[in-house]
Amino acid sequence: MDGSDKVRIGVIGAGGRGRLSRYVVTDNLGGVITALCDIDPEGFKSYADVCSPDVFKCADYRELLARQDVDAVFVSTPDSFHEEHAIAALKAGKHVYLEKPMAITISGCDRILKTAAKTGRKLYLGHNMRHMAFVQKLKQLVDEGAIGQVKAAWCRHFIAYGGDAYFKDWHADRALSTGLLLQKAAHDIDVLHWICGGYTKRVVAQGALAVYGDIQDRHAPSDPGDPTFRMENWPPLSQKQLNPVIDVEDLSHVLMAFDNGVLATYQQCHFTPDSWRNYVIIGTNGRIENLGEARVALWNTRTGYKAEGDVQFDCSPPGGSHGGADPKIVAEFMRYLREGGRTLTSPIAARNSVAAGCCATKSLRNGGRPYDVPAVPEDLARHFA
Ligand SMILES: NC(=O)c1ccc[n+]([C@@H]2O[C@H](COP(=O)([O-])OP(=O)(O)OC[C@H]3O[C@@H](n4cnc5c(N)ncnc54)[C@H](O)[C@@H]3O)[C@@H](O)[C@H]2O)c1
Repeated sequence: MDGSDKVRIGVIGAGGRGRLSRYVVTDNLGGVITALCDIDPEGFKSYADVCSPDVFKCADYRELLARQDVDAVFVSTPDSFHEEHAIAALKAGKHVYLEKPMAITISGCDRILKTAAKTGRKLYLGHNMRHMAFVQKLKQLVDEGAIGQVKAAWCRHFIAYGGDAYFKDWHADRALSTGLLLQKAAHDIDVLHWICGGYTKRVVAQGALAVYGDIQDRHAPSDPGDPTFRMENWPPLSQKQLNPVIDVEDLSHVLMAFDNGVLATYQQCHFTPDSWRNYVIIGTNGRIENLGEARVALWNTRTGYKAEGDVQFDCSPPGGSHGGADPKIVAEFMRYLREGGRTLTSPIAARNSVAAGCCATKSLRNGGRPYDVPAVPEDLARHFA
């Protein structure tokens, strides 16, 4: 804390997703940003209005972690750095906000959990979808028993910006991301686990590099790639300057058996014209579904085709990025730092979404073989419970 009792925040990976940390200041969440780290100095520009001009800046995260004027850090670097940066931060005595996915391997997640347990520092995971209004409505309806006992959950994930965002940089290289069933699906697997109240214990998956592998127009390996979304990048096969390495799938289908008996499916496609996630949850007394981000419908009477459902719920997103989820998750993180207590996300849940995503990726790359998802080691499960 500084003299005014504000939590002092450092950001590792300040450009890109790291800008989420700005809410600490813009929303008066009781923090001050005292240090920024990014290998690209362009990343510092977005902080001119929220930091003092002489805020500490560096390219090497170890310099930031060595500072006494940093109480907590946002780790928002690309996925392959999460394990190294989060563990170093915890060992340096900092509390950590770690972006999803927690790490790119199950063992990497378990090493982070172990370090958090050992150091006693707070570890908070950036699963911001749990703060989206429509996801919270789905969860609330299930918890209230609106559809009886949940038996099935399906998520269809349409990604119009797949070719722009995921096949032009590190995301496309399995050595840096494992695959998009982890990188992208970690969100949805986590949401399915949360809404249905279970964790995946067995997976089967199929997938393919169905479209982007056919594009030969690639940028140089030394170029980081330009993942900017552009309307004119359509249709998908007209994309140019893709990543030199593309060995992840752009189409994948997963079947998951949860430990509470719920059966779930997740489908991800990176070459659709539209972008949204559609969740359907079916219970013993009805079903619910989100119709875009602003509405959830409930069907609970016997009927023929009824597009609008029996009851509709308005869940218009509030202001702020990612359907208003980003300001809320940063507010929760800051409250957790100050007061502790329960949070909507949990390190164990984040680890279990990575575990399901990794096993699903292994399944689709091994002819759809089923895999059992390893449980969190008992001592860690006990600690975080
Ligand atoms: N929760 C969400 O909704 C959400 C949304 C977008 C991204 N993310 C996550 O945020 C993370 C970053 O994603 P991104 O799209 O911003 O990635 P990115 O490739 O834009 O990188 C983020 C920043 O980190 C910097 N960086 C890269 N390597 C670094 C290093 N070794 N040390 C310091 N800085 C480094 C880059 O220069 C960049 O400014 C990913 O893990 C991603 O999954 C989460």
